[in-house]
Amino acid sequence: MPTVEPVMPFSDVDAADAAELVSMMDATDRWPAVRAARDWVLERAGTGGRSLDVGAGPGTFHAGAGPRWTGVDVDAAAAMVAADRTRHPDALVVRADGERLPIATGTVDLVHAERVLQWAPDPGAILHELVRVAAPSGLVAVTDTDWSTLSVDHPDDDAAARLSAAALRWVRWPTLARTVPRRLVALGLDDVEVRAGAVTLSGWEPDAPGQEDGPPGLPLRTIAAAAGPGGPAAHDVDRLGTLARTGRFLATLTVVTTMGRRPR
Ligand SMILES: C[S@@+](CC[C@H](N)C(=O)[O-])C[C@H]1O[C@@H](n2cnc3c(N)ncnc32)[C@H](O)[C@@H]1O
Repeated sequence: MPTVEPVMPFSDVDAADAAELVSMMDATDRWPAVRAARDWVLERAGTGGRSLDVGAGPGTFHAGAGPRWTGVDVDAAAAMVAADRTRHPDALVVRADGERLPIATGTVDLVHAERVLQWAPDPGAILHELVRVAAPSGLVAVTDTDWSTLSVDHPDDDAAARLSAAALRWVRWPTLARTVPRRLVALGLDDVEVRAGAVTLSGWEPDAPGQEDGPPGLPLRTIAAAAGPGGPAAHDVDRLGTLARTGRFLATLTVVTTMGRRPR
């Protein structure tokens, strides 16, 4: 079985295998709950204008936003900036820390950050920056994963509980998503709205290329390893893999999107 180290990959993409992380992003981009979250953001954002995607990864948000939005992608990792530029040669891509955005105050109509704050050292500082750069009436939209909701169907309830608990160890801020609404209210945004979307993963092919670590987008072996001693054992995940080969696999997870508008 593959050996995995406990790491927080998206906290420092340049220290990880960036190509692997990009393919994980490509997998999560296919999750219907992620697509629905982006559609909701774009629907509420209105007719177009200046947009900013912070922690843009390989640039998927702007690639799907359409020509009405004149976008800037920002990411802290050199490898992600390179991946974005390769995929989207016409995109404006800037390497910067979300805690210090090189963007003028009050100038952006749509400010977006998806599954970034959960990995960042100081999510409060990033939220402050997202609100600072938003134009009057501009929309700030934040999506994060609530990792406390990870649930797997395991024949051993204790192993299932160990896997759920492990998810709280592999992300820097695993339950931040549920705090974003009150944080955006505290930062002075109006019309703050929240939606939670369920991710349902009902298939895993452990022997297929790219799925050795878990079903598409959910690196179960890496998550299990992050818990360290007392966490799930490798054979807990092996057992899930054995069942998955016979068509029996289910994992669920929640993504939370929060949006609010800068006052006029
Ligand atoms: C899980 S990926 C999400 C990428 C993209 N938003 C998506 O949904 O496909 C997290 C991204 O946030 C970036 N990131 C993490 N901390 C950051 C920070 N402080 N400032 C800017 N980007 C950051 C990482 O380099 C990585 O590309």
